[in-house]
Formats: sequence, C-alpha cells, structure tokens
Amino acid sequence: MFSLYDEGIWTTDDSWFEVTHESIARTIADHVAAARPSNKPIMLDCFAGVGGNAIAFALSGAFRRVYAIEKNEAALACARHNASIYGVLDKITFFHGDCFDILGLNGVKPGVTVDVLSKVISQAGIIFASPPWGGPGYKNAGDVFDLDLMPYSLEYMYSRFAQITKSIVLFLPRTSDLNQIAKYVEGNSKAQIVHYCTHEKSKALCVYFGEWQDVTGR
Ligand SMILES: C[S@@+](CC[C@H](N)C(=O)[O-])C[C@H]1O[C@@H](n2cnc3c(N)ncnc32)[C@H](O)[C@@H]1O
Repeated sequence: MFSLYDEGIWTTDDSWFEVTHESIARTIADHVAAARPSNKPIMLDCFAGVGGNAIAFALSGAFRRVYAIEKNEAALACARHNASIYGVLDKITFFHGDCFDILGLNGVKPGVTVDVLSKVISQAGIIFASPPWGGPGYKNAGDVFDLDLMPYSLEYMYSRFAQITKSIVLFLPRTSDLNQIAKYVEGNSKAQIVHYCTHEKSKALCVYFGEWQDVTGR
C-alpha cells in the first residue's frame, strides 16, 4: 500500500481496501504530469482518503500546488500524517468536508464553500477523483460495472466537476461500463482510458477527460 508503511503510516479500517497502492498512484502521477495541459499546474484530489494519490502527486514535483479534500475526519488526519512521513506536508493544502460543498457545487452554503479554491481550479487546475465505488461488493457486480451504482454516479460527478474544469481524471473500477463514460466525451474531443495493472492484472482504470497529450507517451 505504502512503501514507507513501516515508518509509521496511519490507516483507517476502510482505507485497507480503498487506498490507491503507491505503485499505481505514482504511475498515475507520472502520466498526469507528463500529459497535462501546460496551463494546468495545479492538482485537486477531491476524495483524498488517507492520501495515496495526493502524496504521489506531491512527490512527482510536477504541480505548483496540490489541494486535497476529504470528508472523513479520521482519514484526513491519516492523510496529513502520511504526507509528513513522505516529506510533502508543505506541498499539499488539505480541506475537511464534502468536496461538492467546498467547491460550491451543491448550492450556496455560506461558510462551507471555498470560493477561492473553485476559482483557482477553474483557471489552472485539474480535478482528480478517486470516489468510493460502493465497498468491496463492486467486485461481484458482473462483467461490466454500472457506474450509476457508485455512491456518486458518473453523471453526478461529471456534471458537477465539469462546471469548474473539463480537465478531469476519474479513477474507476477496471470493469467500468465504457459506454457510460463515452456519453461525457464532448463534441469531437476524445477521452483516454488507461488500465493500471499489477501482477499482469488490471486493478483499476483512469479516464482522462479534456485536452491531454498521449497519457502513456506512446
Ligand atoms: C476510494 S477512497 C479514496 C482513496 C484515496 N485515493 C487514497 O489513496 O487514500 C474515497 C474517499 O472519499 C471520501 N469521500 C466520500 N464522499 C466524499 C465527499 N463528498 N467529499 C470528500 N470526500 C469524500 C471517503 O471518506 C473516502 O476516504
């Protein structure tokens, strides 16, 4: 899960099956760093968990700033602590709360929305989202995973995040229904889909919406 686990990494019960393994998180960070639009040097991780992806983005050194939002206070405490173990605490700004509230995407709730964050991301940011998939049960959901079964459906997330930026990376189950994803590819644009594998098996995929160079550099 984390190569520095023995240095005192903190986890929550849920994070054992939710965290993005470091090897995959680092590869995603390398892909994002290499292929991102040049005018997008800021990264926002909307579902930070215990920090697997946010830490990898910060370690890549490719972003002017990494922002990370997490709703669960215990997971957020782990993410902050784990960032300090990796020496990148000063590179990540953490927010506690619901990412849709904080970004002002659930209607106006004074004191909850962080206007400046949505402005920064809309001008120069990429949204990365590794949402909850619905617990370990998603593995039994059949050959093709219905993205409407996630606690936040694809429609729910895309329609909100796209109000801020079209540069969106979603980390989704490896069997995700590609036809559902295709509905959100606008006009003549393309989305890139990359499977992330360990031991020759796909563990998950990322969808890269928006204008990117070839993500895997091939
Ligand atoms: C799949 S985990 C993310 C794991 C993370 N990528 C990592 O490597 O540690 C999803 C996380 O989203 C958090 N979450 C769920 N709904 C949220 C929301 N509306 N806003 C922010 N965080 C949320 C959950 O508490 C959980 O920690």
